Amino acid sequence: MEATSQQQQQRHEQPCIAGLRFEHYSVAHQLGTQAVRPRLSWKFANVPAGFVQLGYELEVYDSTTIITDPGQKILHREVVESDQSVLVPWPAKLPDLVSRQAVFARSRAADAEAAQNTIRTPWSEPASIETGLLDRGDWQGQLISSPPSWGDECQSAAETPRGEELYRAEFDVVQPATPAAVEEAQRQIRSARLYITAQGVYEAEINGRRVGDEFLAPGWTEYRSRLRYQCYDVTGYIHGGSSSNSVGGRPRKNVIGVRVAEGWFCGRLSWLDDSIARNHFGERPALLAQLEVTFVDGARQVVVSTDSSWRVTRGPTLLAELYDGEKYDARLEIEGWSGAEKHAAAAQWEPVPVRGPLPDTVALITGEAAPVRRIEVVRPVQRITTLSGKTILDFGQNLVGYTRIKRVRARRGHKITLSHAEVLEKGELGTRPLRKAANRDEYTCKGSDSSAGEGETWEPRFTFHGYRYVQVEGNNDNNDNNGDLLSCVETVVCHTDMAPAGSFSCSDELLNRLHANVTWSMRGNFLSIPTDCPQRDERLGWTGDIAMFAPTATLLYNCTDMLRGWLRDLAAEQAKHAGVPPLVVPNVLTRDPFFGRVTPVAVWGDVAVLAPWALYQASGDVEILREQYQSMLDWVAAIPRNKTGNTHLWKSSLLQLGDWLDPSAPPDNPAGGKTDAILVADAFLIHTLDTTAEVAALLHQNTDAERLRREAASARSQFAHEYLTPAGRLVSDSQTAYALAIVFGLFPSPAQRRHACDRLVYLVRRNAFKIGTGFAGTPYICEALTLAGHQGGGGEDVAYALLRNEECPSWLYSVKMGATTIWERYDSMLADGSVNPGEMTSFNHYALGAVARWMWERAAGLKALEAGWRRIQVAPVVGGGLTRVKAVHYTPYGKVGSQWVLEEGEEDEEERLRMTVTVPPNATAEVVFPAGSETEKLVVGSGVHEFSVAVKVPAWPVKPIGLFG
Ligand code: BGC
Repeated sequence: MEATSQQQQQRHEQPCIAGLRFEHYSVAHQLGTQAVRPRLSWKFANVPAGFVQLGYELEVYDSTTIITDPGQKILHREVVESDQSVLVPWPAKLPDLVSRQAVFARSRAADAEAAQNTIRTPWSEPASIETGLLDRGDWQGQLISSPPSWGDECQSAAETPRGEELYRAEFDVVQPATPAAVEEAQRQIRSARLYITAQGVYEAEINGRRVGDEFLAPGWTEYRSRLRYQCYDVTGYIHGGSSSNSVGGRPRKNVIGVRVAEGWFCGRLSWLDDSIARNHFGERPALLAQLEVTFVDGARQVVVSTDSSWRVTRGPTLLAELYDGEKYDARLEIEGWSGAEKHAAAAQWEPVPVRGPLPDTVALITGEAAPVRRIEVVRPVQRITTLSGKTILDFGQNLVGYTRIKRVRARRGHKITLSHAEVLEKGELGTRPLRKAANRDEYTCKGSDSSAGEGETWEPRFTFHGYRYVQVEGNNDNNDNNGDLLSCVETVVCHTDMAPAGSFSCSDELLNRLHANVTWSMRGNFLSIPTDCPQRDERLGWTGDIAMFAPTATLLYNCTDMLRGWLRDLAAEQAKHAGVPPLVVPNVLTRDPFFGRVTPVAVWGDVAVLAPWALYQASGDVEILREQYQSMLDWVAAIPRNKTGNTHLWKSSLLQLGDWLDPSAPPDNPAGGKTDAILVADAFLIHTLDTTAEVAALLHQNTDAERLRREAASARSQFAHEYLTPAGRLVSDSQTAYALAIVFGLFPSPAQRRHACDRLVYLVRRNAFKIGTGFAGTPYICEALTLAGHQGGGGEDVAYALLRNEECPSWLYSVKMGATTIWERYDSMLADGSVNPGEMTSFNHYALGAVARWMWERAAGLKALEAGWRRIQVAPVVGGGLTRVKAVHYTPYGKVGSQWVLEEGEEDEEERLRMTVTVPPNATAEVVFPAGSETEKLVVGSGVHEFSVAVKVPAWPVKPIGLFG
C-alpha cells in the first residue's frame, strides 16, 4: 500500500481560526438570542496536517459599555489549556448576559507541539451576539388586533378566512436635550431595535422600508406555550428630530407599518372540516411590537403596540391562506401606507383595541432557529399548452415557495390566476393529490397607470405552495406578455435558512438524482417546522416522519437549531398529555374526535428520543440531551405495556401505524403492510430504551441508566419469546422485521442473528431486489444488509442491488419516472403515468428518502465515531457496480471528505482503489480499507490523505433468486 499525506497548509497562507461562532448560529453576528452563557466554536484554516489544539485564548468585549467608554470595554480575557474548539464554555468568571446586552468575542489558539514548531494563530475575526428582551418585564408592548366591529366574530367567522390587516403608528423621535447638542440627529441615535411578533404572520416596514428579510415570520411554534419574536437592527431606518432633519421646524414623523395575516395561528390547518380546521390558537390575528431607540447618552425611547397612535385598516391581500393561496387586489393598495405621506394617513384607518399583554403562560423567545427566507429563484423550463387549451409552466423541479409574476401589462381589474400542482395527469394539471388545498393565487391588476414602463410585479407574502407546474390564466391574452411568459414568471423557493452540510456524488447518475431528490424534499419540508408534505391539506409536523428522517437531515443541512426548537414544542405538547407526544406537533388535531384523544403510537412517539439523539450525534451538543431528557423519560414511562404476559412490551391491543406505507399495504390502508405492527412497535421500544439508557449514562443519571438497561434487557427477552424462533426466524418474515431486529440487536444468540441475516439477504434476493419496507423499515434496510454482509454472503452488494434497483417498488423507479423529489409512496405515480388512487399520494415526502444516510455512511463510508465528529470513521463499502463515490460533510470541526475511485489494477492485481480522505483540524479519522487489503485500518490526523490499495471487488450485478433458485 502507498500512503501519502499532503500538507494542507499553503506556505503563503497563515494558520488561522476560521468561522468563530456563538452557539449553533451559522452567522458571525447574531442579533437576538436567549443564550445568557453562549458557548463558542471555531474551526481552523491553513494549519499543518495533524494539527491538534493545545490551548486557546479568549477575549470578550461588552459593546453596550461604549456609551460610557468610547472604546469597547474588555470584559474578560482567559487563557485555557484545552483541546476543545467546539462549544467552548462561556468563561466561568463572567456573569450571565442580561437583556439587550451585546458582546463581541475573539479567540486564538496554539497547537499541541509546545516545541519550537508551535503553531499560534493570530486573533480571529470577532463574532458578536446580542440578547433580546429576556424578562417579561422588559416588554411594554401589548397585543393589538383589528376591532370587533369588523364583524368577523359572528358564528360563521370560524369558517371564514380573513384578509391581511395593515397596522400603522406614527411617532416622533424625541432626542434628549443635551447641552452638547450634536448637529446631526442621526448621530444622536445610537441604535434602534425592533422587537416584534404576531399571532399570525407579519411583515414590518419603517418609513416605507421593509424591515428584515424573513418569510412567514415569526414562524410556527406551539403558540399556546411558545411564541417567537424577531429582533431587528433598525438604526438606519429612523428619522431623528434635530433641526437639520425637520419639516417646518418640527421633527420629521416616523411611521411603522406592519402587515399581519392569519398564518398558522388562525388560518386553516389539516384536512378536517372547516368548522374545526381554523382558529387553532386563537380567534383572530394580533400584533406585538416594541421599538426601542437608544441615544448616545444611554437614554431610551420606546414605541410600543399599546400606544393609542396605532391604527388598522384592511390591506389589498383579501385572502392570505396557507393552503388555498392568496388573493391580492392591487387596486386596493394604499400607496405609502407605511410612510408619512398624507394620503396614506388619510385612508380609512381605525383605532386599534388593545387586547392586553401576552399571557405569562406563553414564553416569548428569540434567536432559537434560523428564520424562513426566500432562498433561490427558479425559472420555468417549458411552456405547455394542454389539450384543453390551458397554459402551464413547468419549473423542471418539484419545489416549495411561490410564483412571482413580472412585467404584467393589463387593464385595471384584470385578474391573473396561478394554480399550482406537483404533477400533470392526462396532460392536465394534476390537482387531486392536493385534496382540499386550492394552492391558487389570484392577482387583480392595478391597470393602465402602472402598466407603463416595467408593468406590474407581484408575489404573494403569506402563503406557500408545493409544486412543479403552475397553470397561468389571464396572463397571456390581455397583455403583451404573450409569448414571453417564460421570462415573466418565476418561482421563489422558500424554506428555513439552514446552512448546507455537504454533498454526495457517484458514478451512477440515477443515484445522484435520488440524492438530489432527498435534498429537495428536505428543503420543501423544512419550512419553520419539519413537515410531512408541503402541498396538500396537511403540511403538519408529523412526528414519525422526522423520527425516521432526522439522522439523514443532519447530514444534508445544519438543522440542529430548527429541530431543537421543534423538540421544545414537542415537550410542551407532551406535558399536556401525560408524556405522550401527539402525532403532529404543534398539535392542530385537538378537535377531532379520533386524533384529539392523543393515544401513544410507536415510531411516531419515539421521536421524543430518536430526534434529540440524532441532533446530539450531529452536533456533539450534550445540552440538547439535557434539555430533552425529561421529555424522553416521560415518553418511555408513558408507553403502555401489557398488564400480563409480556409486561415489558407494548400493550398489544393498541392501534399502531406500524411500517406505514410498506409497498405491499393496500392504497387505502397504509398501516396494513407485511410486518406485524406490534412487532415494529416493540422493536422500536427496545431501541428507544437502549438510546434513553445511553443518554442517561451520558448525563450521569446512573440510577435511570441502570433501570432503563434492565427494562431493555427484559423487553429483549420478551421480544425473542414472542417473535423469534429458536433458529432465528421472525414471525413476520419481512424485510422490515429483519432489518429492525438486526440493526437494533434483538437476537439473544449469534447463531440466531446469523440465521436472520441470511434470511434477510434471501428475502431481498427472492424479491428481485424490490423494496419491501415502509416508513419504519426504510432507514434501516440497507444498513441491516451491510451488517449481514459482515458475516459473509455478500449482504453489502445486496444492499447496493436494492438501492440501484429500478423496478417498482424501488427508490430509482421514481427517478426513472422523472421524480425530482422523494414520493410518499414508492408508486405515487403508477407506471402508466396516472396518480396512485390512494388518499395519500404526495410527491414530496422525505420519509422514504432516509436511505440517503446509507449512501453517506456506507457507500462513501463517512460516519461519526464520536458525537460531533471529532473522531471519524471512513470505511467505504466498495462495490455495487460503482466506480467512484464522493461525499463531503461540514462537521462542527470543518470539512470531512471521503472519495474513492476504482481503477484498473496494476500487473496481476484485479483492481486498484484510490481513496482521498479529508480530516478537519483538531479531529482524527480511522480509515478502514476493504476486506482483503494488506492494511486493515489506520488512524490519521487532520489533512488530506491519499491511499491506493489493490482490491478484489465482488462480481456485479448480484443475481436475484428466481422461482427455481
Ligand atoms: C402523513 C404522514 C404521517 C401519517 C400518519 C399522513 O397523512 O402525510 O406522513 O406520518 O399520515 O398517520
